[in-house]
Amino acid sequence: MNTTTQPLITIAIDGYSSSGKSSMARQLAKTIGYRYIDSGAMYRAVTLYAMQHNMISDDLAIDEQSLIAALPEIDIDFQVDGERQYTLLNGVNVESDIRSMAVSNRVSPVSAIPAGRHALVKMQQQMGQQKGIVMDGRDIGTTVFPDAEMKVFVNASAQTRAQRRLSELIEKGVATTYEEVLSNVINRDHIDETRAESPLRKADDAIALDNSTMSIEEQNQWLLNLYNDTIANL
Ligand code: DC
Repeated sequence: MNTTTQPLITIAIDGYSSSGKSSMARQLAKTIGYRYIDSGAMYRAVTLYAMQHNMISDDLAIDEQSLIAALPEIDIDFQVDGERQYTLLNGVNVESDIRSMAVSNRVSPVSAIPAGRHALVKMQQQMGQQKGIVMDGRDIGTTVFPDAEMKVFVNASAQTRAQRRLSELIEKGVATTYEEVLSNVINRDHIDETRAESPLRKADDAIALDNSTMSIEEQNQWLLNLYNDTIANL
């Protein structure tokens, strides 16, 4: 809960995969008492649904018509449990499944489908109606909340991001290699940047942050300072 008398704002944090934007966004939301939404988890949940219903072939061709027809049946929600937040797909906790390499390797083509994006953007806009929200993703500052009072665009080198992601995956017990993670990061960057529908790009009014050489504490402090400046200058 926001216990201060500060005005509530909308905070959009976009950036490249594994740039650490989710951790920063989550920590800021916790510090200032805002709701945190990981929009990437929503694209991952749709991808998992498509995989569970055999809508993606081994060569990554997507049965778009079936997926579009199924969109009304896909319910995505978040459950907060103490410090942790879980993604629910039709009521089932899929937090661990959506972080697998199988989902990571399929999520970018799925998230390029315009009808799917429209459905998720609408849900995200509803979630942010009351403000007091930190949302991270790829198109939050450009498409979901173009009027957000605070916008950040995070990047780090592909090698730094792959190393960070590898450490996270190893911690979760996922079997993978640095090369596999690096290739997934580079491939996702390319698909995310070149898709026709709301591609990954920095909003003109977003503040850019390259966090390649920053510690987690430094990033969190940088973001909190920006929030304080933003509120002070409203
Ligand atoms: O943030 P992430 O790596 O968990 O996101 C997974 C994928 O979802 C990413 O490769 C692109 C897609 N995505 C998107 O297209 N738009 C968003 N707002 C968030 C994620």
